[in-house]
Amino acid sequence: MHGGGASWPLRGHEGASRAGRFGNGEMNDLIFTVAIDGPAAAGKGTIARAIAARFGLAHLDTGLLYRAAAAKGGDPVAAARTLTEADLAAPGLRSEAAGEAASRVAAIPEVRAALLDFQRRFARRPGGAVLDGRDIGTVVCPEAEVKLYVTASPEVRAHRRWLEQGGEAAAVLAEVKARDARDAGRAVAPLARAPDALVLDTSAMTVDEAVARAAAAVAAALGR
Ligand code: DC
Repeated sequence: MHGGGASWPLRGHEGASRAGRFGNGEMNDLIFTVAIDGPAAAGKGTIARAIAARFGLAHLDTGLLYRAAAAKGGDPVAAARTLTEADLAAPGLRSEAAGEAASRVAAIPEVRAALLDFQRRFARRPGGAVLDGRDIGTVVCPEAEVKLYVTASPEVRAHRRWLEQGGEAAAVLAEVKARDARDAGRAVAPLARAPDALVLDTSAMTVDEAVARAAAAVAAALGR
């Protein structure tokens, strides 16, 4: 980020990262989960990385698990059951095609079941964690201390995607809407706002504004 001028989209390359240690650099046994859900290209990842860095929490981009399971090829259930750290570093996982493939395998109940334990353990690991995805506050960690539902209009999200990847604007909007429909319409763990989630509509927000709102919610829950 430069000065106050960060703009959407901001994407990191790390899937799971330890952004720093909480407090004075000592390991601690704080159990504290920030669950960030919302549709594609709403700004979840950007906010999650910023919150992890600011509060010294571990971060897991759970979309990357589904992307990696889809990219492995073959039977997606077997792929999800045998996922390794190396799979999360496979090239091309951030592409729109990989996201589309991930959205398809994510509708398979056995794939979701295979990835659940890892996500739950990550969420409750000592030192605290931020997870972003579609079902973190509803299914993976309903007990999360902070739940955010980050959204933006389909047009704004499509515009951010278009800035990132180019292509034909109308086609990008159609892709965004199709992915929304699949992620929200599946039978198991669909994209949904937890009733106790704070909604952040980033349509008209800068990155800094969105991060400031999220950070205020986290600071309040931490009693800071
Ligand atoms: O957040 P993303 O675009 O990287 O996610 C890719 C796909 O993975 C998304 O369209 C649906 C699926 N996904 C999911 O079903 N549950 C999650 N917690 C995260 C992602």
